[in-house]
This record gives sequence, structure tokens and C-alpha cells, in this order.
Amino acid sequence: MPKRPMQDAHDLARNERHWNQIAAQYDVTDEITNLEAGFWGIMAAPVLEAFKRHTERVNRENSFFARTQFNRQASEIRDRVAASLGIKPAEVVFSRNATEALQALIGQYNRLEAGETVMYADLDYPSMRQAMDGLAGRRRADVARLVIPEPAVSVGQIVAAYEEALDAHPKTRLLLLTHANNQTGLIHPVCEITSMARARGVDVVVDAAHSWGHVPLDIPEFGADYVGLNLHKWIGAPIGVGAMVIRERGLSAIDRPHGDPGSLDSISSRLHPGTMNFATILTVNDALDFQELIGWDNKYARIRYLRDLWAEQARGIDGVDVLTPNHATLTGAITSFRITGRTSYEDNRALNRTLLEDYGIFTVVRTGVSGGHCIRVTPTLYNAPPDLAKLVSALTELAA
Ligand SMILES: Cc1ncc(COP(=O)(O)O)c(C=O)c1O
Repeated sequence: MPKRPMQDAHDLARNERHWNQIAAQYDVTDEITNLEAGFWGIMAAPVLEAFKRHTERVNRENSFFARTQFNRQASEIRDRVAASLGIKPAEVVFSRNATEALQALIGQYNRLEAGETVMYADLDYPSMRQAMDGLAGRRRADVARLVIPEPAVSVGQIVAAYEEALDAHPKTRLLLLTHANNQTGLIHPVCEITSMARARGVDVVVDAAHSWGHVPLDIPEFGADYVGLNLHKWIGAPIGVGAMVIRERGLSAIDRPHGDPGSLDSISSRLHPGTMNFATILTVNDALDFQELIGWDNKYARIRYLRDLWAEQARGIDGVDVLTPNHATLTGAITSFRITGRTSYEDNRALNRTLLEDYGIFTVVRTGVSGGHCIRVTPTLYNAPPDLAKLVSALTELAA
């Protein structure tokens, strides 16, 4: 691994020699061009090696390790996570994934009264929308659904969509807000929306499953009391680790689950994952080491550069609609597109197959966007400009 360079992140993003050395740390199949890094993040070689070591140790030492060593080590890693996120250790707890964290936050939210409203958008993640529906059903509350404008063009336009929805539903008590959505890749202006919502007495749950290690993330700046995160996507920890954040002032609004007798003042009484993969939690340290060596700003600049390489060229192709804007903060590495007018699932599934079978490019179809189905493209650190050039030339042929 090269040392973290002092070069400006923007210039460094274009330094292929540097990024080739980092890409070489990822053992990826060469059977396809993988442009689908949105599901989870491949572990880099040093992280994978550490995971193997931790797994062997846990397996060898069994409950002796779990009962005498693990809690101390896990709490040190939790402290490191909290420090990196800019929050207190008492405000974060590990979960198995973002879903577990967000379902707990939503399902155990206790401030919602009958006749009040919960709100979410079409681009929010399906399981979280369902959790909001379930909460509303149990508490005899209403559900308000808003549609994020397409094309999304500006912070003001997205904030205005939420403002209009909140105006139309003044009894809203809880808002689900996704930071980086998995459908189009739009990065939602969380700070602006949260401050507007909180001024109206609305609590906000932020789905940041795709945020940490992907785009700049500042949880205190979010202003929200509740956040669910993943570490197995863009932090590159082994599969099976996420985190639940409850800011101190919001703890009392989240019930303890399943008759838990734990302290009302402790976040750990709010989540019960049961036995977790000890080695996975230990490897969070190694994954963070690797991310910090690359540098958060450097990584963001690089993956954003790779995204721009294909998306801003594709935007110029007649017949291709790119669904995130060319904007400094509303876009990260994830961006979806569709061929103009081809909004059905069948059309997009066929295009996804053609990209794979005729061009060797792996992408994924996304459903649930009000404007129609689409194809999501997610490059990451093991990709290089030729991968994106290949996609652009495929799209040029296919759109014609
Ligand atoms: C926006 C968003 N929220 C939540 C999740 C759920 O993440 P996990 O399956 O790791 O719990 C995902 C997964 O892709 C997601 O994209």
C-alpha cells in the first residue's frame, strides 16, 4: 500500500498509478466488469487476511475468548467508530446490518400517537418503508408518501418537495430520510431537510446504509437523533456489521424491545442482535485502518471521478436519461440511468442482461422509482477508467 499522499484529492483522483496500487489490493473476478459495488463492499486483501486471522482465533479459543477478551476489544472498536463519526461512544451500538438498526429505530419509536402521521419517500428503501407502515398501523397513525422530483436538479428543489409534503401533513411526527438512496444514487440534503423537520417538531430517522466511506458523512451536522449505518458496504468490513446511532436526547423515544430489563439510559438495551460474528466485529478495526490509509477525501474524490467519467458522458448520449444530476453534493459513486421511455421492469431487465451477455458488464435493475424502473451503476476502488469507457461505448451502441 502506498502511504497516504499529501496531493490534493482532486488531482490524486486522476493518478492511475496510485489507484492501480490500491485496486491491486482487491481480489476481484475478471469474468465480468463489476459495476455493482452497491450490494456490499469487497474486503481489501489486508482486511480479508485479518478476518481470517480473527476467525481462526475465535474458533480456536471459543467462549474463552468471547467471555474474557471480546467485550473489551469490541468496546474499543466501538469507541473508534464513535470518534470517527463524531459522536459519543454511548450513542452507537453495533448491529448486523443497517436493516436491523433501522427496523429497531422505527419499530420501537414510541412518540407516535393515533391520528398523527409518518412520512417517507418513493426512493426510500423498501424494508424501511414497510417498517414505517407497520409502525403507523400499530399506532393507528396515517402514512404520507412523497415523490422525489425526477430529474432531481438542486438542493432547493428537493428541500421544497419535503417542505410541501410537511405543509400538507402538519400532523407528521416521524420522517424517514435516506441519505444516499439505493435506487437512483441521489444524495439527499439531510441537514437542510432535518432542520426544517425538527423546527416543526418532527423526529427524523436517517437511513445512512450507503453513506459511511462513500460520501462525506457528518452525523452531528445531520441534526437527526436516529441513524442506521452499514460497515459492510463502503467501509469494506466483512458482511454482517452495521451500527445503530441514537443521539442522547432521543433515547427516551425508542422503547426497549422484547421486555428487555436493561437500563433505560443505555443504548444497548435498545438492540438485541444475539450472538454476532465476533471476527466480523474485530475486523472493523482493520477495515477502518485501510480506509484511513487511503484517506476519506481521496476515496470520495476517486469514486466520484469514476462515476463522472461514465455518467456525464452518458448524459450527452441521445436516448439515455441519467437520474442523478451533475452536482457537487447531490451525487456520489452510485448513479442510475434508463433508456428514454423504457420504464418497465422487462425493458430494464433485458438491458441489464444485454450489458452482461454482450458486453460483460455487470449492473443491477432498480425498481420502485416513481418515474420508472432503471439500471444502477456503481464503480468503486477496484474499477479503472477503461471499465467506464466500456460502459459508455455499450450505451452509445444500445441507445442508437
Ligand atoms: C438505502 C438502503 N437502506 C438500507 C439497506 C439495507 O442494508 P442491509 O441489507 O445491509 O441491511 C440498503 C441496502 O442496500 C440500502 O441501500
